[in-house]
Amino acid sequence: MNSPCSEVVQDKTDCSLSTLFRPPRYNLSMSFPIQRLRRLRRTAPLRSLVRETALDAGDLIYPIFLCPGKGIRKEISSMPGVFNLSVDEAVREAEEAASLGIAGLLLFGLPETKDEQATGAWSDEGIVQQGLRALKASPAAKDLLLIADTCLCEYTANGHCGVVIEGRDGWEIDNDPSLELLAKTAVSQARAGADIIAPSDMMDGRVEAIRDALDATGFANTPIMSYASKFASAFYGPFREAADSAPQFGDRRSYQMDPANLREALREIELDLEEGADMLLMKPAMPYLDVVRAARDNFDVPMGAYQVSGEYSMLVAAFEKGWLDRDRTILESLLGIKRAGAEFIVTYFAKEAAKLLK
Ligand code: PBG
Repeated sequence: MNSPCSEVVQDKTDCSLSTLFRPPRYNLSMSFPIQRLRRLRRTAPLRSLVRETALDAGDLIYPIFLCPGKGIRKEISSMPGVFNLSVDEAVREAEEAASLGIAGLLLFGLPETKDEQATGAWSDEGIVQQGLRALKASPAAKDLLLIADTCLCEYTANGHCGVVIEGRDGWEIDNDPSLELLAKTAVSQARAGADIIAPSDMMDGRVEAIRDALDATGFANTPIMSYASKFASAFYGPFREAADSAPQFGDRRSYQMDPANLREALREIELDLEEGADMLLMKPAMPYLDVVRAARDNFDVPMGAYQVSGEYSMLVAAFEKGWLDRDRTILESLLGIKRAGAEFIVTYFAKEAAKLLK
């Protein structure tokens, strides 16, 4: 006998009948023509009644790219419909997002200058810090979460997410000194008004370093949303134009994850939760729905997914060619991410989707 319980039975250990003789889930004699699944698809009210997954504007987070200046609204060529915004324009954008019922904004910054120590990331006068203060003071803030992406790549002259030292390939990312800068960045973001800190750098130990630093500076109540298993993805291509953060040499494969690895993704998540992450942000979304599902099934914590720049741009390119129906495709792409297990979604379509859901 090959049943999983056979050995236990021989040992005379309890092995309940119900596990040995599980009844079939479906009575096969009751298939067609008695069973007709189309019955529940016939009308819109029927479909609505039995719908398993629903999208809501309150599930959506809208990314914003802050840049210095005033009155600036510069379209990103590889992301039509997405802009670099000066702080005053971002405040207007926030008001619109709030009126549409969107959950929050995810803030990125394009600093005036870049250097080796990523000063623009952690300076209290950094562009994201300025943006946070202005947004916090605006009426929109009471209805919107302000989420700070915590990383160094937009602020380092070399475009990497950590501190670069000489190493095997002529260069290497030095993990532990990067933690100090990331923790400093998180604290200055919290001080400027961030409601949530979202580390996206993929250094080992960053969640613990950030948690410790936040707790030590009076921000014990500020949650961490960790990009726990961020993959080294080609789908970030357009973002690097949007955030001016392309690595000047090498790539991110020594710190972001190999797209081939699912088991490792679960280990990354486990470690981030042990270090104190409050919620997860899975990234990218559409090419990694199996990872989203596995994370949902294995960890009982709030989890979102990020429909990244390349996912946005490839859809927009197809819309512009007239190859895909814009409205339906946007909603279906988001629904698929939610069905895979993400409770919330970071998406450049947030405003448009929220309007469609009104
Ligand atoms: C910063 C960061 C990136 C994205 C989010 N945070 C870029 C990267 O890792 O190269 C990508 C987001 C997108 O593509 O929309 N490290």
